[in-house]
Amino acid sequence: MEQATLPQPRAAGARELPPGSRAPAIAQALRYARDPLGFLSTQQRRYGDIFSVRFPFFGQVIYVARPDLVKEVFTGAPSVFHAGEANATVLEPALGPHSVLTLDDEPHMRQRKLLLPPFHGERIERYGELIVEMTRQEMESWPVGEPFALRPHTQRITLAVIMRAVFGVHDEARLERFERLIDDFARRVGVITSLPIPLLRRNLGPLSPWPKFVRSREALDEFIYEEIRLRRAEPGHEERDDVLSLLLGARDEEGAPMSDRELRDELVTVLGAGHETTATGLAWAIERLVRNPEALGKLRASLAADEEDYLGATVKETLRARPVIIDVARKLTGPATIGGYELEKGTFVLPAIAALHYHEDLFPAPEQFRPERFLDGKADNYAWIPFGGGVRRCIGASFAEYEMRTILREFVERAELRAVDPKPEAVRVRNITLAPAKGTRVVQVASAAA
Ligand code: HEM
Repeated sequence: MEQATLPQPRAAGARELPPGSRAPAIAQALRYARDPLGFLSTQQRRYGDIFSVRFPFFGQVIYVARPDLVKEVFTGAPSVFHAGEANATVLEPALGPHSVLTLDDEPHMRQRKLLLPPFHGERIERYGELIVEMTRQEMESWPVGEPFALRPHTQRITLAVIMRAVFGVHDEARLERFERLIDDFARRVGVITSLPIPLLRRNLGPLSPWPKFVRSREALDEFIYEEIRLRRAEPGHEERDDVLSLLLGARDEEGAPMSDRELRDELVTVLGAGHETTATGLAWAIERLVRNPEALGKLRASLAADEEDYLGATVKETLRARPVIIDVARKLTGPATIGGYELEKGTFVLPAIAALHYHEDLFPAPEQFRPERFLDGKADNYAWIPFGGGVRRCIGASFAEYEMRTILREFVERAELRAVDPKPEAVRVRNITLAPAKGTRVVQVASAAA
């Protein structure tokens, strides 16, 4: 990666808050909604690498967009930089109180340690065949010569993979039921998690969002608890390699297994955090490649030569140029000094993923899609942060990158895709992700059989 030349942090002890727009919170939120990817970079260019933004419900929050400042946040004491509390504001109704995403401190580390091994490097490669099979099956449904949106297809693939690899469900009838329950839950959860408004979380009659959400959550939970019971009762489940079976066998430092409630919360967390994100990342990879024929040509040539470096670099560049998650939050449990600013307890501090990834000093010509940036070195942990960082770094990062590489290879080797419209697709907020506005509209000019 290119070396950065960066300005020095300010002297410690400054009392005022970092600079930022004086526009009303609602106006700033609207600007963010209109241009989610550009908003943070614009603020960074205008106000510097540490800036304030005001949002409705959250008040004044502080963004950081320089590696040394990001490092201060990611390596700050986890007991002061609470991610769980920040995430819970939005996600707790869906994920529950035992989710690794909504916990902090000791309970967080306990769940994280239990959850990490199944997502470890070598473990995930055994899902390779399954990923290829699911991809090829889904590609058979792609039309030839007619425009279609790719994102629903990438989402079906990642969902098919997660249902089998994580939950270990293989029975066709159960898979169908499971998929219906997940679809329903995903539809309802969007409304609840879009804004932390108390009114959205109250029963205002059977047709209001909350009771509909609760019903879909109960139906999904019933399926998951049933699956946990079935798996426990299955002879030889200790030999199975799906994540649920591995978690059933996991023990913490005191030798205690996970409770069913903990298992449920972690499984729903992995489901929620793990399939829409990867599907969106893949949709962006194709959206960028079909508009950058040189990169697509190089990728195709490298794969034909059985080379994997350019493929890995393409995935990394996609997650730089179109980070699926725009920022990560920490809520201060006590005062902390960042970049010389003394911040009070209760402040939200957010590494601004989008602003870092478009920082000229870190990624020269950031608007250009150039996988070459990642060919000659490892990505900097505090500049390229699509998976967040520190003790909260995404548990599924290796899995996601491996899955994206595997699926992308199939797409590029087996189909000839073109953009329907040469203009880049706009970036839209979809649940908590940044997705292509039209779902990556493409035309397949030749299929695998051609
Ligand atoms: C391209 C795909 C993905 C992206 C961009 C992504 C991004 C992220 C980000 C930004 C965080 C928050 C990190 C922080 O606060 O510093 C996170 C956390 C997490 N992700 Fe992912 N993720 C992806 C795929 C996955 C997958 C496939 C799984 C599981 C199979 C997963 C499971 C998790 C979990 C369990 C956490 C919580 C970690 C903790 O709080 O300790 N993610 N992810």
